[in-house]
Amino acid sequence: MFRKIAISAVSALVLATGAAHAAGSAGHVEDVDFSFEGPFGKYDKNQLQRGLQVYTEVCSACHGLRYVPIRTLADPGGPELPADQVRAYAASLDEVELPGGETRPREWTDKFPIRAGEGMGPDLSLMAKARAGFHGPYGTGMSQLFNGMGGAEYIYSLLTHYNGEEKEEAGSFFYGNDTFAGGWISMAPPLSDGQVEYADGHDNSTHHMAEDVAAFLMWAAEPKMMDRKNTGFVAVIFLVVLSTLLYLTNKRLWAGVKGKKKHA
Ligand code: HEC
Repeated sequence: MFRKIAISAVSALVLATGAAHAAGSAGHVEDVDFSFEGPFGKYDKNQLQRGLQVYTEVCSACHGLRYVPIRTLADPGGPELPADQVRAYAASLDEVELPGGETRPREWTDKFPIRAGEGMGPDLSLMAKARAGFHGPYGTGMSQLFNGMGGAEYIYSLLTHYNGEEKEEAGSFFYGNDTFAGGWISMAPPLSDGQVEYADGHDNSTHHMAEDVAAFLMWAAEPKMMDRKNTGFVAVIFLVVLSTLLYLTNKRLWAGVKGKKKHA
């Protein structure tokens, strides 16, 4: 009986994970081994700094990060920029518009600028979570636990899977993309080899820049991922210790009764 139940439970699990995979992938999404995947994964601060550079030099022309406070660039577990650099970075961004049309310099306590209007793309603050379909959040969450949420993979794949085709429809241009749902996106390929000159001299091929900016956008959407994993880990250890203690206590309490039965 127990075996039957166990077998059906296991096959239900397997089916559920398989179905989730099929439902989650609209276009082609490539698996990337990001440093922040897995139960002990951590953001790589050098990668986040490079990703910030790609975002600033390329993507910020058309995409805002309206929910991300600039000061978090200094937070532990993030890009960890020194405070003076964060202040200088804030001052280099677009000024803040005040009611009445006045402007003032952007402070590090402000958020990143908003981009809106003709030709601009959607805000990227939460994009990595909005496109998390690849490894989750469907099914049991096991795949998500070990492989990450998949939003960063989606962004990486989107940036690296232009297929070179173009078409014009009603005065707008569309570019063939094997990751984007429907296969045609109105964003021209934003990256090309060597476009960003990295301060740390890291490889700046399109595929590396795409990985770096995807990691940065994952952090932007989920800056506390490492804290969350640590808390989860401590909770699991606690549960294991507690269960062991309860088990031993239970054995001890019943030792007299059970012991008698055995010898009877
Ligand atoms: C010239 C303007 C422009 C630049 C530069 C640009 N984008 Fe876009 N982006 C767009 C537009 C417009 C869309 C909306 C495309 C559509 O819906 O067809 C978009 C859409 C997106 C999407 C959403 C795709 C989806 O699933 O809805 C992501 C992610 C994205 N861009 C990331 C980036 C990244 C990362 C960079 C920098 C490497 C970048 N973009 C640079 C204009 C731009």
